[in-house]
Amino acid sequence: MTNNDLPPGADEPHAPRRADFGADFLWGCATSSYQIEGAGAVDGRVESIWDRFAATPGSIRDGSSGHVACDHYHRWPEDLDIGRDLGLNAYRFSIAWPRIFDGTSGRPNEKGLDFYSRLVDGMLERGLQPWATLYHWDLPQWLQDRGGWAARSTVDAFLEFADAMTRRLGDRVSHWITHNEPWCTAILGNYEGWHAPGLKDFGTALQVAHHVLLSHGKAVPLIRAIVPDAKVGIALSLHPLRSASADPRDVAAMERHDGMRYRWFLDPLYGRGYPATTLAQVGEAAPVVLPGDMDAIAAPTDFLGVNYYFPETVADAPGHGPLGTRVLPAQGETTSLGWPVAPQGLAELLARVDRDYRPGPLYVTENGACYDDVVGTDGAVRDTARRRYLMRHLAALRQAVADGVPVKGYFAWSLLDNFEWAEGYLRRFGLVHVDYATQQRRLKDSAKWYRAFLGRN
Ligand code: FCB
Repeated sequence: MTNNDLPPGADEPHAPRRADFGADFLWGCATSSYQIEGAGAVDGRVESIWDRFAATPGSIRDGSSGHVACDHYHRWPEDLDIGRDLGLNAYRFSIAWPRIFDGTSGRPNEKGLDFYSRLVDGMLERGLQPWATLYHWDLPQWLQDRGGWAARSTVDAFLEFADAMTRRLGDRVSHWITHNEPWCTAILGNYEGWHAPGLKDFGTALQVAHHVLLSHGKAVPLIRAIVPDAKVGIALSLHPLRSASADPRDVAAMERHDGMRYRWFLDPLYGRGYPATTLAQVGEAAPVVLPGDMDAIAAPTDFLGVNYYFPETVADAPGHGPLGTRVLPAQGETTSLGWPVAPQGLAELLARVDRDYRPGPLYVTENGACYDDVVGTDGAVRDTARRRYLMRHLAALRQAVADGVPVKGYFAWSLLDNFEWAEGYLRRFGLVHVDYATQQRRLKDSAKWYRAFLGRN
């Protein structure tokens, strides 16, 4: 083999190798329903909060929506074939709640259930262990009309949804993620207003966070009761934090930010309740908590999912936001979304979570990068920066494993380019390029690198 025959990146020094991680390590890609499925009005699917939000002028940068997206609803066999051909042994997907409950009959929609049943069969046929996320942000609009996650009744609706899905898929799906990134659901959707439903009220956001955590905690025993050998967890978006300077005001701001970004979610999940200092800082915006809620939220889980993208640098900013903090724009190397590239942050974060909470097995349930990919005249997508991003993050992950952090799997975000929420289709995170005009899929160099890493040349 000459150097030219090597898969892109394989000749880089210190490149991680699959064998560094052990035979049982899970290697996947992650996706989410609203971002890839399309088929917005097919087989009884009803409106989601993202359909409504996307239809509101000014909310999505390119004015688009997930109505067609990658048309994965119809093209899933091809997409799962790609996953198999890359050599993945796991695949993380999410279930569109608006395909399952329409808010009228109270009964699950058979056509929606059938779709996910076929999808799961497709994964198993291709050697992909299914990892199902119940909630990756596409709440049915009819539930938002009844108050959304700020209403306690949505917790009950979620349990009905979890019940329906686990009854239908639980004979084949053991790994369940209740929620994806509750911080984003709560804060981006209900305080900052960047995400659906586009509300801007801090108290609402904290009530939403509470109900999301509560619905998680109540779903854990429900899923276990229905699914033999269930492994249940939650996926959080976490960032290692840096203080903007050594000035004690910046250091204190970083601590306040950490209270909301990290401890507000992890402390209750691991039985410590909401952090007292942060609770005092949020004052009247604190959520209504009923007796028994905190115990329910602390239901023991089987794993923790960590979504890692970048570290945040925090400065004191009196009067800015509810906690008087500001996240500074990144310095140094960034992706095209302006997110810092900091592979060591992944190892640092996993080690911290493990040390602080001992949550048991950790999985990197998302990690990836957005770059402005170009299809060459030869059809190749030379996404060197993403390939290097992936390789360097896997090198950091190898370090975490070597240091004894119990991380057991990695899901790259994302298999396909997709609808990147408020950024629409302007931002590409896929290992596989999608031409939205033709729906053609093309492996980028990063996908080829991952395939080579996984031993599928
Ligand atoms: C995460 C989301 C995921 C995707 C990536 C880039 O916060 O979970 O859906 O948008 O960011």
